[in-house]
Amino acid sequence: MSKIAVITGASSGLGVEFFKELQKEPLEEIWIIARREDRLKEIAEKLGKIKTRVVPMDITLAENVEAYKNLLKSEGADVRFLVNNAGFGTVGNLDEADYVKQGQMVDLNVRALTEFTVVTLPFMNKGSSVINVCSIASFVPNARMTVYSSTKAYVMSFTRGLRYELKKKKINATAVCPGPMSTEFLNVAGIEKGTSKTFDTLPYCDPAKTARGGIKAAKKGRCVYTPRAFFKLYRLLAKVLPASFLMGLAKV
Ligand SMILES: NC(=O)c1ccc[n+]([C@@H]2O[C@H](COP(=O)([O-])OP(=O)(O)OC[C@H]3O[C@@H](n4cnc5c(N)ncnc54)[C@H](OP(=O)(O)O)[C@@H]3O)[C@@H](O)[C@H]2O)c1
Repeated sequence: MSKIAVITGASSGLGVEFFKELQKEPLEEIWIIARREDRLKEIAEKLGKIKTRVVPMDITLAENVEAYKNLLKSEGADVRFLVNNAGFGTVGNLDEADYVKQGQMVDLNVRALTEFTVVTLPFMNKGSSVINVCSIASFVPNARMTVYSSTKAYVMSFTRGLRYELKKKKINATAVCPGPMSTEFLNVAGIEKGTSKTFDTLPYCDPAKTARGGIKAAKKGRCVYTPRAFFKLYRLLAKVLPASFLMGLAKV
């Protein structure tokens, strides 16, 4: 059985940082997954210090989830880390939104993350970790990113439930909750300077530090990891203050 890590959304941003960081772990191979094969190949070539398998696929397609499951089986994989990182968001009011895009967001951030976890769990053993990339958007609903923040609230709840279930097997699940990061996420969401006061004023999280902190928290068996003191405080406030009050501040 070969000890591997699986990272979805590894062709850019935070996924690349998870790829760099996980190479420091005692693994035999890392599987990097995303749709853009050329980008994955380039990342494997330039940054891969250990054996890397490029798995180009759209993880929202049922046949690809099945193909991934068969690959785990045929390779006799022992997954030490599953990083469910692929995700995207959009900004705007829902009464002006494209329903197809909103559905695709739920498909990726919620359904694919769930399916990848369920498919991978039989290939995980004692001491391994599921790392679900969540967001500060999971703490309080964000108006104008309503579907996105709802998907991340699901990720938080899913991670908590999963972690509880897996305790008996000594497998951990951690929700990594960054604030804004300068990645392609912003372009995909249509966020640029001047688009959103919130994105313009919030402090930004460093993707490398976020990946490093997320892995460290997962290895310690933590349930939630939030980078930066500012966002740790925000998480605490979200537990004690009414959502209706914080939503006025959290509006995008
Ligand atoms: N950046 C932020 O401000 C921020 C803040 C909080 C949380 N997050 C979360 O952090 C995670 C990583 O985002 P990021 O900031 O690194 O953004 P990013 O650079 O846009 O990365 C998103 C990754 O997901 C992949 N992806 C998108 N659709 C996919 C699909 N259908 N199948 C397979 N892979 C797919 C993309 O690759 P391909 O296009 O090649 O498929 C890309 O590798 C996301 O879950 C996001 O919600 C981001």
